[in-house]
Amino acid sequence: MFGSRRIAKVLLPRVSSRSSIALLVQRSGPFPSSARLCWRAAYSSDAATSTANVTTNSKTVEINGKKYATDSWFNVSSTVLSLTSRKLHLQKDHPVAITRKIIESVFPEPTYRYYNEFDPVVSTYENFDSLGFPPDHPGRARTDTYYINKNTLLRTHTSAHEAELFRASASGGYLISADVYRRDEVDRSHYPVFHQMEGARVWDRDKVPGKDLAAAVLADLERLPKHNMTVEDPNPPFHPERNPLQAGHHTEAEAAAVAAHLKRSLELMVNEIFSRAKAAAAAANAAAGDASPTDNKNNEEPLRVRWVEAYFPFTSPSWELEVFYQGDWLEVLGCGVSRQELHAGAGRPSQVGWAFGIGLERIAMLLFRIPDIRLFWSRDERFLSQFRGVEDDPSRIRPFVPFSKHPACYKDVSFWLAGAFSAAGGNPRGGAADWHENDLMEVVRDAAGDCVEDVRLVDEFTHPKTGRRSKCYRINYRSLEKTLTNQETNEMHDRVVRGLVEKLGVEIR
Ligand code: PHE
Repeated sequence: MFGSRRIAKVLLPRVSSRSSIALLVQRSGPFPSSARLCWRAAYSSDAATSTANVTTNSKTVEINGKKYATDSWFNVSSTVLSLTSRKLHLQKDHPVAITRKIIESVFPEPTYRYYNEFDPVVSTYENFDSLGFPPDHPGRARTDTYYINKNTLLRTHTSAHEAELFRASASGGYLISADVYRRDEVDRSHYPVFHQMEGARVWDRDKVPGKDLAAAVLADLERLPKHNMTVEDPNPPFHPERNPLQAGHHTEAEAAAVAAHLKRSLELMVNEIFSRAKAAAAAANAAAGDASPTDNKNNEEPLRVRWVEAYFPFTSPSWELEVFYQGDWLEVLGCGVSRQELHAGAGRPSQVGWAFGIGLERIAMLLFRIPDIRLFWSRDERFLSQFRGVEDDPSRIRPFVPFSKHPACYKDVSFWLAGAFSAAGGNPRGGAADWHENDLMEVVRDAAGDCVEDVRLVDEFTHPKTGRRSKCYRINYRSLEKTLTNQETNEMHDRVVRGLVEKLGVEIR
């Protein structure tokens, strides 16, 4: 997520084309709570329970039983706040929880300890500073991140807990699973809340036999199982400019050993997941009587993965792991050798190790062939019942069978951006230069909730004389659970339009 040379997109559920990562909005008042009206309406107990943990007034917000003071940085919608209690990664037989368990099985206790209950509210220090993010890093922007107040936010990644666990140094390694929050675009693979898993392994150079760190790491590497995937790893373990080792902290032998241990560990994980996905597809085909030629072909081909150089402020060298899946290279995780400053800052200067982060929804979408990220939040039995019993017996994984595709309804909204040339004038949010697409996405989510499948920019125009800028977005209203009536769609679209005018100061064309 947070590279600066190249912005890595790994942990998002899918590859994103955004030029800066993640999301968020300044709001002047509470958004209408009609947001989740449609597809949750049939499950009204949902709305009641999901908001039970959150109360807001103008000065404080209560999240998971704790109160926080808000200030002018506060930009979390009630919809997003209501999701802070869901913890899908801990719900028995939820596909996110099943995915977590499968990954945990590759990183066994007691070497690895599992942490699944960390609170989503963290400080900007934990989320950014402790990890070496520069003060002007785009990930810190309020357009990208949900802030409670200037110094407190909803974590944007599980790395926010790295420093704390390095300090505790309670085990040779750990896995953290948790909900993370990013203001983002609206489409079938982006949702403002998703789940990540963070993993790390450390060695203490003062405690390994003979104080020979590289030898100790290589000995642990020898003990890991082997796999038979085809791995493309064309780059050297480090490169002086592109992907440097931490000179002064690690010798070449040490950096190479840690990198090799990291790569094998993560290859084993990916192998486990994709072998299970293949087995699931094969079982479904067998049950259906025969296999389609495409599925047969996909199942016969050996799994191909490749290592790609990457950048994160808190690792060096760094990589992304990509998997060849249905004809495309797909990023599945980001990782690297942890920066020594983190260990030193945590009071453990003799510790050396690696870390990775992976988006669980994205993996679950591949594993279960779940076509739309909104489904993970469904309480519809037609969704949940398909995974019952799988957590205790992952051999029962089968591709998700979609329940009816409801019709799409496209509606366009065209508007002039607020700004110096706006007839409306006096936009409290500033001029057109302040335009951030994520703000529009947030208005749409708040007005229409999970009834919107995606939002796309379809036209842009700058008036040649006045310099005023206009944009046209196409919103696809499609519920996962029912056919929307014209009236419902029109009402939602009216709310979106009103929200854009009131919150972003645009002028409708
Ligand atoms: N936290 C990073 C992200 O969200 C992923 C990462 C974790 C990269 C650990 C390196 C090490 O993109």
